[in-house]
Amino acid sequence: MASLTVRQLDDTLKRRLRLRAAHNGRSVEDEVRTILRSAAADEESFAGAAARDDAARAKRETLPAATTRVLLIIGGGIAAYKSLDLIRRLQDRGAHVRCILTGAAQNFVTPLAAGALCGERAYTDLFDQASEFDVGHIRLARDTDLVVVAPATADLIAKMVGGHAGDLAAAVLLATDRPILIAPAMNPRMWAAKATRRNLAQLAADGVHVVGPNAGEMAERGEAGTGRMSEPLEIAAAAAALIHSGGVLAGRRVLVTSGPTHEPLDPVRMLANRSSGKQGHAIAAAAAAAGADVVLVSGPVNLPDPPGVGVVRVETAQEMLTAVEKALPVDAAVFAAAVADWRPQRTSQRKIKKHGPPPTIELVENPDILSTVAHRKSGRPGLVIGFAAETDHVVANAEAKLKKKGCDWILANDVSPATGIMGGDSNTIHLVSADGVESWPPQSKDEVARALIARIAAALADTKK
Ligand SMILES: Cc1cc2nc3c(=O)[nH]c(=O)nc-3n(C[C@H](O)[C@H](O)[C@H](O)COP(=O)(O)O)c2cc1C
Repeated sequence: MASLTVRQLDDTLKRRLRLRAAHNGRSVEDEVRTILRSAAADEESFAGAAARDDAARAKRETLPAATTRVLLIIGGGIAAYKSLDLIRRLQDRGAHVRCILTGAAQNFVTPLAAGALCGERAYTDLFDQASEFDVGHIRLARDTDLVVVAPATADLIAKMVGGHAGDLAAAVLLATDRPILIAPAMNPRMWAAKATRRNLAQLAADGVHVVGPNAGEMAERGEAGTGRMSEPLEIAAAAAALIHSGGVLAGRRVLVTSGPTHEPLDPVRMLANRSSGKQGHAIAAAAAAAGADVVLVSGPVNLPDPPGVGVVRVETAQEMLTAVEKALPVDAAVFAAAVADWRPQRTSQRKIKKHGPPPTIELVENPDILSTVAHRKSGRPGLVIGFAAETDHVVANAEAKLKKKGCDWILANDVSPATGIMGGDSNTIHLVSADGVESWPPQSKDEVARALIARIAAALADTKK
């Protein structure tokens, strides 16, 4: 080790050392020893920090291939407190979670709490030099398997629709090419507002997945209705369904219609049917669980939205056709909705009064959604599947329908009241295709859904994604 004497130092340095030693009450040699000791300790701690950083980076980079990365964006709503629990619930499922908090979110939860739960810093600013150098907003958007927005505020939803990129959350949402799952949470009136309805329909058409919101008491005293954020366990389940990368329909986009349509006669009366939507919703849920990107166009039903599915709500057959065409292109389309064949020719804007003889209601034909999509010259789904609800000659009618509508498969079921299928939980299906008729045993609607999804996956297996 080289030896150095104070005498060898230049005069200015010697003078400064003497002053410093006198100030600290030490000899010049002791002062030099103290300085060297402290420099060595700094070096040690610097080396230690660097080693720890290297270990953390190595750990990040050597995460098992099966580990799922979830980027959780926390918006500025009261439900943000539940998002801290969501971090844990996602981790319970083996996910590596990273967090972004919007500016508004930081009024409800702190980046410190979110970061502590994630085990790494939470990101907050688009123009934060450190995080831009460390990770960068584009890498935040890409180094993940799924982006979850919870709570998704009305504001954040509107920004997504508008393609805004003015803050870190919005920029990442615009830059990502990964699936996005949003868990909306807001006051029921904000949720019901026309702008929010429009925005949700657009996001569903853009392929964004939605879980919730639920109905119940709101955080604001005296407020109740639909708008509560889904529970963390529900959101984690929806996220898991989406990142089920081994799913037989991973990389496929599937459209499902479900429920009845309501055709208004006046503001209080309508033509409707008894469809519950149970079969269509079960198919959408099974497709999502199989890894598909699912759009569900649903008529008015009394069912919760299936997890991990983008839902577009409609009332009439005409609205359903518009929503279906907006959702194309898809790999497979399953038309399980019971669409009204006719609608009243005229819809009165005022309630029709009961005086004079009963009115005669003239009907006009509704668009045939199945046939319209099956006969498309361009953008026809690879597989077009219809349902036939029949009370007589079930299979014969289904065979005729297959030809007339130009679809690939018809799932026929007997909806005579005695079967209990309409509104019930089980179903007996005859799958009619160009290859013939296959009669399935009676089973639950969930089982029918899973069987159908397996058939769809097999049929699409050789087609290009
Ligand atoms: C106490 C309080 C609670 C709020 N809760 C919600 C909410 O649950 N949902 C929502 O959409 N907005 C809510 N807001 C309004 C949002 O914080 C506001 O629209 C904000 O701009 C959202 O910003 P962000 O989307 O960037 O997080 C709330 C505001 C306050 C003051």
